Amino acid sequence: MIEFQGVSKWYGTLKVLKDISATVDKGTTIVLCGPSGSGKSTLVRTVNRLEPIQEGTITVAGADIYAKSVNVNTLRMGIGFVFQQFNLFPHLTVIDNVMLPLRRLHHQSRKEALPTALLMLERVGLADKAHALPADISGGQSQRVAIARSLILNPEVLILDEPTSALDPEMVSEVLKLLRQLSGEGMTMMCVTHEMGFAREVADRIWFLKNGELTFDAKPLVFFSPEAHPDVRGFLSAIQKNH
Ligand SMILES: Nc1ncnc2c1ncn2[C@@H]1O[C@H](COP(=O)(O)OP(=O)(O)O)[C@@H](O)[C@H]1O
Ligand SMILES: [Mg+2]
Repeated sequence: MIEFQGVSKWYGTLKVLKDISATVDKGTTIVLCGPSGSGKSTLVRTVNRLEPIQEGTITVAGADIYAKSVNVNTLRMGIGFVFQQFNLFPHLTVIDNVMLPLRRLHHQSRKEALPTALLMLERVGLADKAHALPADISGGQSQRVAIARSLILNPEVLILDEPTSALDPEMVSEVLKLLRQLSGEGMTMMCVTHEMGFAREVADRIWFLKNGELTFDAKPLVFFSPEAHPDVRGFLSAIQKNH
């Protein structure tokens, strides 16, 4: 579904992605982890062209996303993106937030968009909050609303950049449970997270980045085994100490 071939990126003279080649198969879940500043956010942001690259190619569903013929808006409609901060509009109700992509990008009226938006809210278990304002729901619920919004255009790929990092600990599991459900339904996902329990249980492959390099790409069984790259071993023991 997604293929990176020799992808490199610089910010000025700083090389932040170094010759990354990797594949995301359709229907699989990739977890990306690695130290802060290793390039995880930059890498996932290249997939919908939020970040230009200077070398290499990225294809999504077989099409080179940097080809001149590609319409960036169409590309972005096919790729849902969820951020650490949920970015809900505070003055809009939950359901109005969820239907926004349909209204803006498919030019649907509120009435036209309503049934789809309700279905999405049901899918994330929040139909009863449809008419609440973001200020009146919890952080975990807000992130689930943001996920519902990212799914409403029926994207082929869902990308999440530290979706639980801004949440109070007791709200992390409800979001991870939803992601596990989406993964089980066959959604293709790339998720940046340091929730290693989730990675072990849900990821098909785990990518480890360090200094802009994809130093390890393995199945969970190998990633959490003694055969993993020494950098991975060090990273995992550092995480464990923090817990
Ligand atoms: N807009 C930017 N301008 C310059 N440097 C940036 C910018 N965004 C990120 N960087 C740098 O790129 C590197 C990778 O950052 P990032 O992708 O955010 O890492 P991560 O998500 O793994 O913490 C870091 O060294 C960071 O300082
Ligand atoms: Mg980041």
